[in-house]
Amino acid sequence: MATSVPSSLRTRGLSALWLLLLLLPAALATYSIGVGRADCTGPIADIVFMGYAKIEQKGNGLHLRTFSRAFIIDDGVERFVFVSVDSAMICHDIRQEVLRKLRLQFDDMYTERNVMISGTHTHSSPGGFMLDVLFDLTTFGFVRESFNAVVNGITKSIERAHNAVAPGKIFITHGQVLDANINRSPQAYRNNPQSERDKYEYDVDKILTQVKFIGADDKPMGAINWFAVHPTSMNNTNRLVSSDNVGYASILFEKMMNDNGATGKGSFVGAFASTNLGDVSPNTRGPKCEFSGKNCTDQYTCPGEKEMCFASGPGKDMFESTSIIAHKLYEESLRLWRSGEATEVIGPVRVVHQYVDMPKQSAKYYNHTTGQIEEVQGCVPAMGYSFAAGTTDGPGSFAFEQGTTTPNPFWNAVRNFLAAPTKDDIRCHGAKPILLATGRMKLPYQWQPSIVSTQVAVIGNVVIAGVPGEFTTMSGRRLREAIKNVTNDAPDDRTSVIVAGLCNVYSDYITTPEEYQIQRYEGASTIYGPHTLTIYLRQYRELVQAAIQQKPVPSGPSPPELLQKYLITLVPPVLYDTPKWGHNFGDCVQQPSKVASPGDTITATFASGHPRNNLMTEMTFLTVEKLGNDEVWIPVATDADWETKFQWTRTSMILGSSQVTITWKIPQDVKPGEYRIRHNGYYRYILGGVYPYYGVTNHFQVEVPT
Ligand SMILES: *[C@@H]1O[C@H](CO)[C@@H](O)[C@H](O)[C@H]1NC(C)=O
Ligand SMILES: *[C@@H]1O[C@H](CO)[C@@H](O)[C@H](O)[C@H]1NC(C)=O
Ligand SMILES: *[C@@H]1O[C@H](CO)[C@@H](O)[C@H](O)[C@H]1NC(C)=O
Ligand SMILES: *[C@@H]1O[C@H](CO)[C@@H](O)[C@H](O)[C@H]1NC(C)=O
Repeated sequence: MATSVPSSLRTRGLSALWLLLLLLPAALATYSIGVGRADCTGPIADIVFMGYAKIEQKGNGLHLRTFSRAFIIDDGVERFVFVSVDSAMICHDIRQEVLRKLRLQFDDMYTERNVMISGTHTHSSPGGFMLDVLFDLTTFGFVRESFNAVVNGITKSIERAHNAVAPGKIFITHGQVLDANINRSPQAYRNNPQSERDKYEYDVDKILTQVKFIGADDKPMGAINWFAVHPTSMNNTNRLVSSDNVGYASILFEKMMNDNGATGKGSFVGAFASTNLGDVSPNTRGPKCEFSGKNCTDQYTCPGEKEMCFASGPGKDMFESTSIIAHKLYEESLRLWRSGEATEVIGPVRVVHQYVDMPKQSAKYYNHTTGQIEEVQGCVPAMGYSFAAGTTDGPGSFAFEQGTTTPNPFWNAVRNFLAAPTKDDIRCHGAKPILLATGRMKLPYQWQPSIVSTQVAVIGNVVIAGVPGEFTTMSGRRLREAIKNVTNDAPDDRTSVIVAGLCNVYSDYITTPEEYQIQRYEGASTIYGPHTLTIYLRQYRELVQAAIQQKPVPSGPSPPELLQKYLITLVPPVLYDTPKWGHNFGDCVQQPSKVASPGDTITATFASGHPRNNLMTEMTFLTVEKLGNDEVWIPVATDADWETKFQWTRTSMILGSSQVTITWKIPQDVKPGEYRIRHNGYYRYILGGVYPYYGVTNHFQVEVPT
């Protein structure tokens, strides 16, 4: 083990408390539970996606709507809110804005202390919702519409959970999903001590943890599943908004539990939340050279001039890969749900939260090489060279290579123009050659946070540690073990520790100090230096101790609220729309084929307005309708469904005319009959105002062979 806690530091005297917890009256086995879901889809066109940092990856349509899913757990004394949102991550201002809105309705019921918001980390949703300069660099600054969509969706999901609170029980169970994830930085992982690696069968976690919520009347209420995988099955060439593999797994699970009801509706709420996914890729075929299909070099480069090295699979294209990974997660979660293996969660709810100024922290580190315990420090944020190389899930745009530990004078000159790191910074970051001294960059405002949110919820013998970034596999394992070391005085060792990823604030990656030495993308993006994890291990141990012992935790230094600054926005608004020459908005300019069968893809094109005129939140840009017996059109699919795609094109910049192409892949279980496709949208009139329009296709026949 690389980190060690001298036994004198170990907590003692917790056994009595744990015994007490387990002997609590059976009445406490019932919690008040509420679940809620809300649409948080941002502007689907013209906004660069958040995740791959690729300027060309601007949205031009919609495949899967994104949702926020909220879960409230209350033991009568304490209330905890967990939110999993289909978003690349969350920033401090988003959470503050959500809390501000909740305060108007519910006073002090929802606070920084008891609300934990975790991003699923999809890389296919519109960006610009982050405030820190670095994270908005590739989205042309702050995008108010993206920010509002995420804030409103999260708020609404919590409101709905609040209004649904009813007595219920909680269960926990663990399963396994093989063949759905690989390590994308195995050479960094291999730098962890052999003795530690020997304790694990795989170089990524294969565990799927499920927490289930069942009403007092035995009615299924919801579930949160945690599985470590990047939602990067959709790659950086995708331009349709999507919640990716984990989002689709949620849709499948919810559809099943809600009797095959409409996607994104229904009372059962099922989340697939992020955990220690830092170095974990869903692209199970592994990295290959783009054209030759051959293995990449050890440095993940390819011989050709412009040939990229990237990972893909397991499907033939990114859509199929997304679906395969989603189905694997969904099938295991359903098996767990039905298995009856789950253990009931019993005991009080306790939540603690603290802001921590990372560069000011120190901790004790047991250095394996020297056998000494060293006092180590956090560093002022900085990004290393390998950050610019990107990953094999999404290679970067410049000629940077991962694993770079020596600087280059040209890039250092560019860097120094922005802000030069101090001598102390260079020493503090150790193996990392500094590309961007983000912590020293103050213009026009903060580039990356120094103050992070740390939070722990204890629910009976389940501990949820909400972490402000992407822990790698081994970092997550160490954190779980460190927390177990605090709780393992319990009479039985049934404590489950869950690392909830990307919570509340985003501070990039957290590798182990050993992985950090290799400086792959994750190490280069571990912004507080080699001992970021060492500090977190101490911090979370202290938080868990405080939660168990019911000791108050000081709130810590408040992070700056950037929303109050003059934010830079370079994304132009929609000025006006005009329909295609000789048409009206909503005219179907290309009709679908008259007859179709299961497996076919139906295509229709309409004259349209700009989809940014109205995000159609909790509504739909498209509806597939079937003619019912009494001549009424019944919706069978919307823009939130996997089978449909909605793609927008500006056909003339100057005239402001555009069109949308809608496709529907007819599912195998389709009912035969007469169908049509509807498009709903809004156009912006040149003299001002935004107005609704709609259009429908001709009817077409779906025939099902007998
Ligand atoms: C390519 O890489 C894989 C996985 O590391 C290895 O098993 C295989 O032998 C390599 N193939 C060649 C031709 O080097
Ligand atoms: C993304 O996936 C598509 C297939 O869906 C493939 O053609 C393309 O090469 C991939 N690109 C990258 C950078 O992964
Ligand atoms: C947990 O405790 C064991 C035994 O005291 C120790 O060897 C290990 O290093 C500790 N792990 C962490 C992450 O603190
Ligand atoms: C452990 O100590 C060695 C020797 O002083 C040093 O080179 C190494 O960087 C230290 N490891 C870490 C992770 O700080």
